[in-house]
Amino acid sequence: MKALEGVKILDFTHVQSGPTCTQLLGFFGADVMKVERPGVGDATRKQLVDVEGADSLYFTMLNHNKRSLTLNTKTEEGKKVLEKMILECDVMVENFAPGALDRMGFGWERIQELNPRMIMASVKGFGPGPYEDCKVYENIAQCAGGSASTTGFRDGPPLVTGSQIGDSGTGLHLALGIVTALYQREQSGKGQRVLAPMQDGVLNLCRVKLRDQQRLKAGPLKEYSQFGEGVEFGEATPRAGNDSGGGQPGRILKCKGWEKDPDAYTYFITQAAVWGNVCEVIGKPEWKEDPNYATPAARLPRLNEVFETIEAWTMTKSKYEVMDICNPLNIPVGPILSMKELAEEPSLRETGTIVEVDHPERGAYLTVGCPIKLSDSDVDVVRSPLLGEHTDEILSDVLGYDAAGIQKLKDAGAV
Ligand code: COA
Repeated sequence: MKALEGVKILDFTHVQSGPTCTQLLGFFGADVMKVERPGVGDATRKQLVDVEGADSLYFTMLNHNKRSLTLNTKTEEGKKVLEKMILECDVMVENFAPGALDRMGFGWERIQELNPRMIMASVKGFGPGPYEDCKVYENIAQCAGGSASTTGFRDGPPLVTGSQIGDSGTGLHLALGIVTALYQREQSGKGQRVLAPMQDGVLNLCRVKLRDQQRLKAGPLKEYSQFGEGVEFGEATPRAGNDSGGGQPGRILKCKGWEKDPDAYTYFITQAAVWGNVCEVIGKPEWKEDPNYATPAARLPRLNEVFETIEAWTMTKSKYEVMDICNPLNIPVGPILSMKELAEEPSLRETGTIVEVDHPERGAYLTVGCPIKLSDSDVDVVRSPLLGEHTDEILSDVLGYDAAGIQKLKDAGAV
């Protein structure tokens, strides 16, 4: 038995944010039925194509554990099928541009009328307010949610991050909203609306930067390297390069081979509790007692010097040697791992976080399996569906159409 077995999801999502949410629900055992426009499907099927004629990795890696039903919801027959789906399903998930569902005739009021137990979950770029009608993609959310302003180096432009915190991050927020609403429905018997705006999701993930915004009123942010460099703070939380976002100073430092290998770096944290071990490892035992270095407060104005000294040591070791030496001493460090290294990492394969999947059009490819592990709900990663692969199956098994009825829908161009 899987955690969400029996939960039926009408998956009206596309691109990345919505599909990451429904894929997670699928990993946990929900029956995710993806509704796609006949002949077209999710736009990502044909974006960033690497194997001509096959669904792209962009699509396949975001749509495992789903069934695909093609349906033209702009035809009368198609609308009737959608109504039946709404009656049958527990959750409808969508991330259309604002207003698209209303134009289709399936706004929240109509959904409630059809099925009061339905949970209707949406990703939008912005919540209610001046920008609620805007279309939004990943990087816009990163910019509007505070991430870009606080990412990068002080003397450079704002930067977006490779982590898809706007899309996949909001998909995660939405998935939590959905299972919470399902839990509440157990008591209330009613469905509800779940809204996860991308701006809000990114801001939630940037919570510590709003913390720093308020701390600025009390003076300079002493753990930021700009403090030690004597650079004045402005009115807003600045970009802090690779400074640690918490109370234990850290930096990315070069390791042996950095001149040729772009990933020969380690993250090194000078956790106060193990300062003595750090001093021993880097060959500065005298810093343990020296009042200029012995306490976290004394070190704050000298972080550049401290990290330059540590780096002189890390540059003599590979990133893995740094790990091997520091871990037994409880010094928190982490190698900068490339995608190539992660793809080849055996332990991630063993835990099912990196999975090799076979696909009829493209052959074997790697994907990220379920990153959340439940001890009583195993995850089998099932390849993404071809466009309309399960149309007949869903129409007959879930909605009760017979062969003649299905043919009629096909003739009408509804499926
Ligand atoms: N049958 C018939 N029509 C369908 C359909 C189906 N099965 N599925 C979708 N459509 C129609 C919609 O009704 C809509 O039509 P309309 O604009 O005429 O009313 C149209 O397809 C396109 O929908 P839209 O969401 O506007 O797509 P887009 O490609 O123009 O915009 C986004 C893409 C992502 C920018 C936009 O959907 C958006 O802002 N979504 C919310 C935020 C979000 O999730 N962004 C991140 C995406 S990773």
